[in-house]
Amino acid sequence: MIRVPGDKSISHRALILGALSRGASRVRGILRSADIESTASVLRALGVKLPALTDDFRVQGVGLRGLKEPASTLQSGNSGTTVRLMAGVVAAYEFSSRFEGDQSLSTRPMKRIADPLSAMGARIEFERDDGLPMTVHGGALTGVSWNTRAASAQTKSTVLLAGLSGGVPVTVRESRKSRDHTERMLASMGVPVSTGDLTVSISPVDSIGALDIEVPGDPSSAAYFIALAVLGAGEIEIPGMCVNHSRIGFIDVLKAMGAAIECTDKVAIAGDSAATVVARPSMLSPTGLDPDLIPRMIDELPLLACVAAAAGIDLEVTGAGELRVKESDRIGSVVTNLLAIGADAEELPDGFRIRSRRGPLAGRVSTRGDHRIAMSFGILGALRGNEIEIDDPDCVDVSYPRFWADLAALTS
Ligand code: S3P
Repeated sequence: MIRVPGDKSISHRALILGALSRGASRVRGILRSADIESTASVLRALGVKLPALTDDFRVQGVGLRGLKEPASTLQSGNSGTTVRLMAGVVAAYEFSSRFEGDQSLSTRPMKRIADPLSAMGARIEFERDDGLPMTVHGGALTGVSWNTRAASAQTKSTVLLAGLSGGVPVTVRESRKSRDHTERMLASMGVPVSTGDLTVSISPVDSIGALDIEVPGDPSSAAYFIALAVLGAGEIEIPGMCVNHSRIGFIDVLKAMGAAIECTDKVAIAGDSAATVVARPSMLSPTGLDPDLIPRMIDELPLLACVAAAAGIDLEVTGAGELRVKESDRIGSVVTNLLAIGADAEELPDGFRIRSRRGPLAGRVSTRGDHRIAMSFGILGALRGNEIEIDDPDCVDVSYPRFWADLAALTS
């Protein structure tokens, strides 16, 4: 049995919406990792009295109009969610907020959020290209109906949060449905939200009610141990995992490949849901991927590539060009590292191809500072017969600081 840390996406949103609520919000089981600390420090720089993050903490909300002009640059570290969600929030304030990030975050595209925020009336200034540093010159906003090009929950949330803090109606239309935690949490806090297949709209409110949430376990973190179980390490039970449909594409694909995975004891949590997941060793065979699955497992695609390589089955992923603009270019990172350890892999412009090859995998993996590359290949290294060295194991701190200890406990 393993309990994985709190969901990263829900943890960011619980902090942000708790801080903007009216009254005292209570958050249990928040993820404690570098990315969530980035969001906490940005909120503190904007005047929110946020206590140190503990397993059960309370935040006194400042209300939708209660943030203060920051005295310094807002440091977002490695976290795209921090900068993209918070840029939406501060766009409605009559002050300027300058965001900075680490080397990886500074190369990630911000035009996708600058465009809708500009259309709403904010002015976004870049110092070079469309990456960080970025300054949001905020002010009174107008409502917008926005089509996002990529299926990106971060971009969708930028617009929703700008509408929320600006007190204007917004609609977002996506090409494919991305994770929907923002709209679910907003609805649970009293915001009128209406959703269609590919659209979400919110209406203005004066305030949002306090939040009381127990953050469910992160399916993106659980995915590593589900893969480990399926690849032969033995049965693993994961209680309290978030089973929001927009997040469990990885489980659906593994099941289509023949994996024995069950979800039981489902419960509702602040608009989301959690369940106990049990995964068992299974024989896998190839399957095709429906394009709608891609956003539902975007963070698990590097792991899926590693699962295919370990199981010795063919896999083709396309329609996943977004992987090129994650914490690293994940198409390049996955294929280069699979080749380095003896698998047969090939880059495609918007995905990759893995060809079946049996035999042990061995070699050194260069994570490019990307936590999901480190953990995906870490699972390959934990399988009997493989010999894999990870160059920068500490990069897992952004999402799962305890990862190596949990992996060792499960495999010892
Ligand atoms: C996230 C959305 C996804 C995901 C990221 C977290 C979120 O990014 O890759 O790890 O919390 O909204 P995109 O919205 O850019 O696809």
